[in-house]
Amino acid sequence: MQVYLNGEFMEADKAHISAMDRGFLFGDGIYEVTRVVNGNPFRLDDHLARMDHGLQALGIELSPDERARIPQLHLDLLEKNKLTEGQATIYLQVSRGTAFPRTHAFPDPAVKPTLFMTAAPFKPFTELHAKGITAITISDVRWSRCNLKTVNLLPNVLATNEAKKAGVGTALMVRDGVITESPNANVFGVIDGVLYTYPVSHYILNGITRMTVVEMARDLGIPLCEVAVRDTDLSRLSELFVSGTTTDVQPIVTLDGAPVGDGKRGPVAKALQDELLKRFEQGH
Ligand SMILES: Cc1ncc(COP(=O)(O)O)c(C=O)c1O
Repeated sequence: MQVYLNGEFMEADKAHISAMDRGFLFGDGIYEVTRVVNGNPFRLDDHLARMDHGLQALGIELSPDERARIPQLHLDLLEKNKLTEGQATIYLQVSRGTAFPRTHAFPDPAVKPTLFMTAAPFKPFTELHAKGITAITISDVRWSRCNLKTVNLLPNVLATNEAKKAGVGTALMVRDGVITESPNANVFGVIDGVLYTYPVSHYILNGITRMTVVEMARDLGIPLCEVAVRDTDLSRLSELFVSGTTTDVQPIVTLDGAPVGDGKRGPVAKALQDELLKRFEQGH
């Protein structure tokens, strides 16, 4: 597998970074994962806008030349890994760079950020999209800048591991009595025919798939309310699903052991899944 690291393509096992890289020492960096269908990175502009926002918020500056090359690097990586047909994902990570000695404050003067990218084949979870998955609720113990897609993923890792230990597909995180998101996806619930989701704020990552679902709901005439589902409303849900770059629209059919609605994928999730597949094929 060919990867990209700091200006060069190379085999993955040849890609090395310094142990003093601040991504490694502090989780001081951001990442993006983009879905690719037949060589087309889906909504790449939105991913790169989110990346730019994250870099700006953290004060990490890519050189203008390197930033300008990123869209083409996506295409080059696909080409080099023979992934221009079928489905793939591209992972991109930028850290603040390598600096010595280890100190919390930003290096002064600034160092060159580390830019790392990989591409991998991807198989959608089609069977699970039809069958649905199970989930538990878990306390959202994350910080209050969840809108930044940073590589600090420890709470997400721990929550996913709790779900695995409980023998379920995912965990839905609850903060102040409302569902925020899952460790790798946004959450939507249907109550009395209205689609609810946590509003854009510092407590969730505004997923590119979430943005797509919001647009699709409007286009399909599904009433949408950007208000979070309360944990006291769980028994009123007729449908529950998550959305993400690798999850697509993924129904949750039982939560904390109780069926959601009739315990099967519902019509809203199905309509949005179908529409998302259409948009993947159309390329936007
Ligand atoms: C915490 C969190 N929320 C939501 C999402 C979904 O975002 P996207 O649709 O851009 O993949 C992700 C994706 O990794 C995530 O990590």
